[in-house]
Amino acid sequence: MANKSVIIRIKRQNDPESRPYWEEFELPWRPGMNVTSSLMDIAANPVTRDGKPTTPIVYDSNCLEEVCGSCAMLINGRARMACSALIDKLDQPIKLEPFSKFPVVRDLSVDRSVLFENLKAVKAWVPIDGTYDLGSGPRMSAEEQEHAYPLSRCISCCCCMEACPQFNEHTGFVGAAAISQVRLFNTHPTGKALKRERLAALMGDGGIQECGYAQNCVEVCPKDIPLTRSISEVGREVMKQAIGDLFRK
Ligand code: SF4
Ligand code: SF4
Ligand code: FES
Repeated sequence: MANKSVIIRIKRQNDPESRPYWEEFELPWRPGMNVTSSLMDIAANPVTRDGKPTTPIVYDSNCLEEVCGSCAMLINGRARMACSALIDKLDQPIKLEPFSKFPVVRDLSVDRSVLFENLKAVKAWVPIDGTYDLGSGPRMSAEEQEHAYPLSRCISCCCCMEACPQFNEHTGFVGAAAISQVRLFNTHPTGKALKRERLAALMGDGGIQECGYAQNCVEVCPKDIPLTRSISEVGREVMKQAIGDLFRK
């Protein structure tokens, strides 16, 4: 493998308003390289393939083991995590771009706060705040834990939203991650206290009916969360509540 090299093309942008541009880098190949380690190599020697000194690439990363969700980007056009994207498994030249549906902060770093706003809108938490001793919560059965665990693996990477054709400024769709968190918290023995409010938040514009069931979300989720199952189950619950509300009027 002597003298093997890795070619990476990166879409860069100096600030949220400026025009994007491309730079190409050639790095010496090392065994076990991934996209994040390649970006570190560029930072150690920020020179383009044609010998022009440049600035290190700005990107997000933290855990380096597909747990924190920060390093999501478009790698050869697919939404995925940079820290787990092995160079040897990617076609070259490798193309790196920031997510297209989120505001660019700089280079490959984007502002994903819309997900956190959506999680707030659907009250994706267990309501146990208080300054007094609440005592121990209800026990969860092994079956309940098995049901909840796959849903609790969400790392807020936003890959599902980037890949979703319905997630755009016209629809205002909350996206699969927030819907799946509604399923998680609505089945939690304490969390379900807010079930009605969560389902109500998914009715109307931007709610669950915006989903076209294209299933791109489940294809790209790095944690294999059963997103389409969540969308079907929560969709049924939303419908049941909407009909019930109609008859109660
Ligand atoms: S099923 Fe399709 S439309 Fe619905 S959230 Fe997933 S990608 Fe988007
Ligand atoms: S559901 Fe999957 S793709 Fe979507 S934010 Fe969570 S981990 Fe990422
Ligand atoms: S650095 Fe945390 S998921 Fe990639």
